[in-house]
Amino acid sequence: MKKLWGGRFEEKSEEWIDAFGASIPFDQKLAPQDIQGSLAHVQMLDQTGILPHEDALKIIAGLKKIEQKLQNGMLEFSIQNEDIHLNIETFLHQEIGAVAGKLHTARSRNDQVATDMHLYLKDTVQEVLHKIHHFREVLVEKAEENIYTIMPGYTHLQHAQPISFAHHLLAYYGMLSRDMERFEESLSRIDICPLGCAALAGTTFPIDRQYSADILGFSAIYQNSLDGVSDRDFILEFLSNASILMVHLSRLCEELILWCSHEFQFVELTDTFSTGSSIMPQKKNPDMAELIRGKSGRVFGNLFSLLTVLKGLPLAYNKDLQEDKEGMFDTAKTIITSLDVLSGMIQSMRVQKDNMSQATEKDFSNATELADYLAKKGVPFRKAHEIVGKLVLEGTKTGTYLQDVPLTHYQEISPLIEADIYNVLSSHTAVEKRNSVGGTGFEQIKKSITTAKKHLAAN
Ligand code: ARG
Repeated sequence: MKKLWGGRFEEKSEEWIDAFGASIPFDQKLAPQDIQGSLAHVQMLDQTGILPHEDALKIIAGLKKIEQKLQNGMLEFSIQNEDIHLNIETFLHQEIGAVAGKLHTARSRNDQVATDMHLYLKDTVQEVLHKIHHFREVLVEKAEENIYTIMPGYTHLQHAQPISFAHHLLAYYGMLSRDMERFEESLSRIDICPLGCAALAGTTFPIDRQYSADILGFSAIYQNSLDGVSDRDFILEFLSNASILMVHLSRLCEELILWCSHEFQFVELTDTFSTGSSIMPQKKNPDMAELIRGKSGRVFGNLFSLLTVLKGLPLAYNKDLQEDKEGMFDTAKTIITSLDVLSGMIQSMRVQKDNMSQATEKDFSNATELADYLAKKGVPFRKAHEIVGKLVLEGTKTGTYLQDVPLTHYQEISPLIEADIYNVLSSHTAVEKRNSVGGTGFEQIKKSITTAKKHLAAN
């Protein structure tokens, strides 16, 4: 079969080399964007008088037919036609004959592919934003159900201070809100049209770039043609935003995996989000959480692949750039499905409230309360810290927690300690009193939930 670019070639191509160079197995995903871009381009060629009106009409009708066939699953892409652009152009030839050859006037596959990618990411980022928004709603909903659920807060994975489970969930809400902002902010850099940059240097035809960009709904056009066809920053940004998002999802999954272990028993995932073992009948494994944690690896990998592809590339187009696609598609699919799965998992999980709060009863996570109590009565905090440290040491040897130390013993240590200490030492009080802005105090959490709901409703 003759190539659309075959004029200066003498030898026949080899199938296996064609297969190596082809992108059609994966860039066929861009068919809708490619047709859309061509439609805008031909309308511009018509408008500027570069093409005779009747030719433009034929091309438009042909493209619309191809679009229809695509929607009905009637297009059969071929490796010989290399990529989505040449495949569509070949279909156009089959539909309308030689006039199809006029579509590529004042255009190159270089600005064409870049346009397709911008269009694809514009839509994809909208979908990602929608999914993150929903996940944030789920987090807030779960937080609202768990304002008074007390759990150990950890540092170094050691019991640190009691916190509300809602506070923990809202920490993820904060991360996901920033993720959403990052994707939103990236839109302004995706929303730039490279069409008309042509191969690299612009064109001698009197094109109207603004006209085609307007049809495609872009807010701006690239001001430098070399930049327009070589820029993949917008994909890098997508991949890095996706990587940060996956860090957050993966951290939460790691916690879920711990929480549903026998040692913690803080949450129970529903059967839908768990799997069994083929040998151990008792097993209920958090596979889906593990998979999301695992899939973060491929998302980071996709970012690194593209960074590496780009770092040594001279301007302008190089075929290396074809490597920008699979990682981007894979990342989009991975983050969208991970968000769906994790939203469902959190929404449906059973929170073992009693186990969580009991975990704060038999520990020393109220040690700071006692130190703060003494400090409030005028003991320098460092001194208070030392007094309590000694008590904890004693307690670990005798198996006595601070709430079990008799008042008489407390008063031997410091006459400042009175009977109200036992209320101060309770986990509930410890959480309730942490009312500094952004703290775990119930009132702070309620405020955070109100604000979160307002933000969620506003967009
Ligand atoms: N399939 C190519 C890609 O994805 C399209 C651009 C080809 N341009 C070229 N000059 N070979 O990058």
